[in-house]
Amino acid sequence: MKFFVDTADLAEIKELAATGLLDGVTTNPSLVAKSGHHDFIALVKEIASIVPGPVSAEVAATDFDTMMAEGLYLARIARNIAVKVPLTPAGLKVCKALSQQGTMVNVTLCFSAAQAILAAKAGATFVSPFVGRLDDIGENGMQLIADICQIYKAYPQFKTEVLVASVRHPGHVIEAAKMGAHVATIPPSVIRQLFNHPLTDKGLAQFVSDWQKTGQKIPIDSDGKVQPLKSGRA
Ligand code: E4P
Repeated sequence: MKFFVDTADLAEIKELAATGLLDGVTTNPSLVAKSGHHDFIALVKEIASIVPGPVSAEVAATDFDTMMAEGLYLARIARNIAVKVPLTPAGLKVCKALSQQGTMVNVTLCFSAAQAILAAKAGATFVSPFVGRLDDIGENGMQLIADICQIYKAYPQFKTEVLVASVRHPGHVIEAAKMGAHVATIPPSVIRQLFNHPLTDKGLAQFVSDWQKTGQKIPIDSDGKVQPLKSGRA
């Protein structure tokens, strides 16, 4: 399963990219506004230079002609840009045109299996079903993921990857993985939650404490160089 980080915050992206666990980034107009960055193009260019995987940058317009022009502009920023378009008739028309030119397209604001079928037929690279927002209105966001994964599996000609979006907690990530979703785009705070388990912390503290009681050290130099093994092996 690929993990994308769902943010436009450069500091967060840099910190999480350093873990080596990031496979891409998704942004949207609201995340860009929240970032406080005032040069969207420069922001996207920098993000694309930090993370080699797909970086989603969303068009601002809603009409075909302007979205098409914006999409072509965004795609030229970097080779790893995925142009994000809304799941509307005009957005899917842009998706088809851009994907036919070899541009990655992330079709966003997906809330039904019917919409996901249309996105796949339009040649989307990714479709982004928003599970959290469905949960927010009392629907079952993860059931949508299950339905889409089942449908896509039935049609090998569909090349679209399911990019689970609007993730609210680790449970969404785990359930999405169980269903075989290709990608989860995860807020930085939720990524950090994935690392944490109280028994890991407790167990590590015990290992450290018990090792200190042995009074031993692994013989490395203070500058981190590895000493030759006593057995004489290099
Ligand atoms: C993907 O980038 C989506 O835009 C994002 O996950 C939406 O999340 P939200 O529902 O918390 O705004």
